[in-house]
Amino acid sequence: MQRPVDLFDRAAEWAALSRFVSDDRPGATLGVVSGRRRQGKTFLLDAACRATGGFFFGATQATDAESLRRLGAQLTEQLGAPVPVRLDGWEEALDALLALGRERALPVVIDEFPYLAEAAPSLPSVIQNALRPGRPEATESRTRLVLCGSAMSFMGRLLGGNAPLRGRAGLELVVHPFDHRVAAQFWGITDPRLAVLVNAVVGGTPAYRREFVRDDVPHDLADFDDWVVRTVLDPTTPLFREARYLLAEEPGARNPALYHSVLAAVAGGNATRGGIANYVGRKATDISHPLTVLTDSGLLRQEADPFRSNRTSFRIAEPLVAFYHAIMRPVWDQLERPGAAARVWRAARSRFDSNILGPHFEHLCRTWALTGDDLPFDGLPASVASGVVNDPSARTTHEVDVAVVGAADPGAPAPLLAVGEAKWNTVMNPGHLDRLRRVRTLLATSAYDTSRTMLLCFSGAGFSDDLVAQATSTPGEIALISLEAIYR
Ligand SMILES: Nc1ncnc2c1ncn2[C@@H]1O[C@H](COP(=O)(O)OP(=O)(O)O)[C@@H](O)[C@H]1O
Ligand SMILES: [Mg+2]
Repeated sequence: MQRPVDLFDRAAEWAALSRFVSDDRPGATLGVVSGRRRQGKTFLLDAACRATGGFFFGATQATDAESLRRLGAQLTEQLGAPVPVRLDGWEEALDALLALGRERALPVVIDEFPYLAEAAPSLPSVIQNALRPGRPEATESRTRLVLCGSAMSFMGRLLGGNAPLRGRAGLELVVHPFDHRVAAQFWGITDPRLAVLVNAVVGGTPAYRREFVRDDVPHDLADFDDWVVRTVLDPTTPLFREARYLLAEEPGARNPALYHSVLAAVAGGNATRGGIANYVGRKATDISHPLTVLTDSGLLRQEADPFRSNRTSFRIAEPLVAFYHAIMRPVWDQLERPGAAARVWRAARSRFDSNILGPHFEHLCRTWALTGDDLPFDGLPASVASGVVNDPSARTTHEVDVAVVGAADPGAPAPLLAVGEAKWNTVMNPGHLDRLRRVRTLLATSAYDTSRTMLLCFSGAGFSDDLVAQATSTPGEIALISLEAIYR
């Protein structure tokens, strides 16, 4: 399958899609593609259909009758049929889609599938029935039916539990945002400092570089402030309202006010269920559904504390949402007035540095420790999280920004591969190392094997000479990780 020239990255996604749609074995098959809006799902599927002469139907919010009429019209065109195709119901529609693949393996994409299923809740069962093994229409077809959708809570349920389509999909592709390294390449940013700043605002959503700011990329570090003012804070760019729309597109979020408040609570640093509930003024049980929907939809991330059982913390997973809540929402009325952006940004810049950049840098360090090449510790990381370690004799607790846990052998404690501290704007010194040593000592009696635990110092501002000297003398124990390394 010919890869489109303007498709950036997505090698694994394209390969999986290619394998699925060009599988030549007899029998119709089902695939499901999901992912938050604007990650490039339509882009990928449209390209696959173009490359193979496949059939692409983009559903809209419409009644059943209208959707069937549109689908019929598009089938008429695809087949060059002399008489217009008339579809009287979804059973008939499915058979027409299966008939498309009678001659050869052919992708048949239904994009925005949740819109159809909303108007016709029985559609998943109709599809299950149409693809039933042994049914001649299905066995004689090589239609590669792909259902695609952005409503993550819906798409997740499509194949889960006792859903009719459970266990039926031969392809389950989730299109994620780009990670920070790919995002920097996509934006064409080579200065890692600038890359972190931009990533802390727009994250890894491809469309935010293209349609949303019309390829306006900051020229250099000095241009960053002006770039913020002329893009995300400018009410005439689509990016300005995007953070608000992200929620509106989740049909699971029936009470937007509550969902916005939950996001505001988390963005404000309330990480526990109790803290979030307290902030929004509800009982913890009232917010458990919103927390699930927001996590499923990729707007929140849940992280278990590796050092305290039953402690889960919540974080905003989409940088634009964190930015909106910290910088934009408190002064929304002000921002909507033309020309206010520069003033707002001057007043908010220090809040951006402390509330957004610090935590975002920690997150990038964790991502690196989980997925980076050339990791310094010995062993494959199974999970990377932040945690809190109790220090009873000193009557204090220590926050660990980066705790790297390896896979345990049966019957043995899991190895703690590394503990690390991340500082975005501080030159790190031996004092930081002493604290990590103390943490490692405290954890020696924990459930982890600390015999190989490395100490990691991540800094966006560099390391003092005496820290460098210590790290050089014990390379197997201490690693200093610069911004450049995180982007390598
Ligand atoms: N891999 C990619 N390479 C280049 N541009 C991309 C890529 N993925 C997405 N885009 C850009 O993002 C836009 C939105 O993607 P789209 O396919 O509409 O997202 P989705 O269907 O997931 O909502 C595309 O029009 C394109 O400009
Ligand atoms: Mg789309």
